[in-house]
Amino acid sequence: MQESRTCPKCAVKKIHFEFFAKFVRYWIQFILFHATKFNHIVYKVGSGASGFNFKEINTLHRAEASLYPADMKNRIYLQILEKRVESADTASLVLQPLNGFFSYKPGQFLTLLLSLEGQEIRRSYSFSSSPGVDPYPIITVKRQPNGIASSYLVEKAEPGEVLTALPPAGQFVLPVSWRQPHHLFMIAGGSGISPIFSLLKYTLACTTRFRVMLVYASRDEQNLIFKEELKKWLDLYPSRFKAVFLLSTPKGGLEELNGSAQLKAIHGRLGNSLLEEIVKDNKPPDESVTDFFLCGPPGLLLKSEMTLRFMGYPKENVHKEVFTITPPFRPPAERLPDGAVALSRNGSVESFPIRAGQTILEAAEQAEIELPFSCRSGICTTCTAICQEGEVEMYLPDGPLNSSSTKGVIQTCVGYPVTTFTKITVG
Ligand SMILES: Cc1cc2nc3c(=O)[nH]c(=O)nc-3n(C[C@H](O)[C@H](O)[C@H](O)COP(=O)(O)OP(=O)(O)OC[C@H]3O[C@@H](n4cnc5c(N)ncnc54)[C@H](O)[C@@H]3O)c2cc1C
Ligand code: FES
Repeated sequence: MQESRTCPKCAVKKIHFEFFAKFVRYWIQFILFHATKFNHIVYKVGSGASGFNFKEINTLHRAEASLYPADMKNRIYLQILEKRVESADTASLVLQPLNGFFSYKPGQFLTLLLSLEGQEIRRSYSFSSSPGVDPYPIITVKRQPNGIASSYLVEKAEPGEVLTALPPAGQFVLPVSWRQPHHLFMIAGGSGISPIFSLLKYTLACTTRFRVMLVYASRDEQNLIFKEELKKWLDLYPSRFKAVFLLSTPKGGLEELNGSAQLKAIHGRLGNSLLEEIVKDNKPPDESVTDFFLCGPPGLLLKSEMTLRFMGYPKENVHKEVFTITPPFRPPAERLPDGAVALSRNGSVESFPIRAGQTILEAAEQAEIELPFSCRSGICTTCTAICQEGEVEMYLPDGPLNSSSTKGVIQTCVGYPVTTFTKITVG
């Protein structure tokens, strides 16, 4: 029998080709993954140009916009291009960034600085749009009964108005372990669908490695935000996207929703056993890593997280975004020292005193030093800084945490130095 032999020149060529193909594949993946960091959707607009309409903006915004057309105070200005009614109490605002470069990651949020009832109030709103998919950033706001900002945005804000915001922020973003195929299991309740919709559009349209399972809980069909759009996405990606809609008090029959093989509509509430059943029924067939993304009312988050942990999923694979602000715990001042904080920012350092029992954010404000913040409760991460010297104790909604166990990452709004000298850096 004659042995089949490969010509050595061809073998070398094959190795070169394979190496080259690997190299190209690596860079394509690298560019796609880092695309959001490198402003893959960059809205470059001239300051004050592009139809910057000052007519309807309120006084605070007008003054700031004309004084700081670029980003001297790290503010960004966004004009409302369009307002879309999503349900009786929910509206989406399509925004046109007006100054500088603007980029965001799917799952992040904007903190709006609104001048309402004679004061500046800050509220965060997640993007429901996705970079690489939607031409403009979009936020989706659900009106809270007697809620100051949400009522204003849903009922009064109109196209043409310019909103002031802090740059996009938030850690509710895609996992970095990009090389493995991923199964994303998303659980949303009410307006919690906003960042989930942003994430799922990106994973389906801009990548091929993710399969997505969505569990979306709502009161009834009329309160299912993005119902029609979700159905379109299910049709577009039949092999990678499945969904369960859970309606606690449906108004009609569920036949209309149960039209396709990928969508199941169920009458019920998300309890531990139902979630366990859905997770087991929709486990990836292979060894894909499963990451969970949770966003919704506190009860739904708690139940879902407990069920997933009980099922053995590690904490680091369960990501959650909390919309509800709860007042943070304050430690007794006697346990903490008076001291000083050195703040390093953009290459310069300024120091300010801090009294026992004051948060770093409060001490900075007292010294008239502006630091970024939004919720003041350790939830949104807008105030993230790095502790470089000293030690900071944080009182987060999930319990206390020391900067020594977070590699120095701190939230200044709930951060209390436990050393007399602390050096922090703000990006
Ligand atoms: C990271 C993050 C992302 C978010 N993303 C979204 C999003 O995409 N969409 C969205 O709709 N929301 C989102 N939120 C929530 C949003 O930021 C606001 O908290 C929400 O809109 C309510 O703000 P408000 O000013 O309307 O209500 P507030 O005026 O702050 O009131 C909130 C609630 O508390 C009640 N309340 C207010 N004052 C009192 C009082 N003195 N006593 C008793 N009750 C009172 C009100 O009746 C209301 O029901 C997000 C929050 C965070 C932290
Ligand atoms: S301001 Fe929201 S975590 Fe500090």
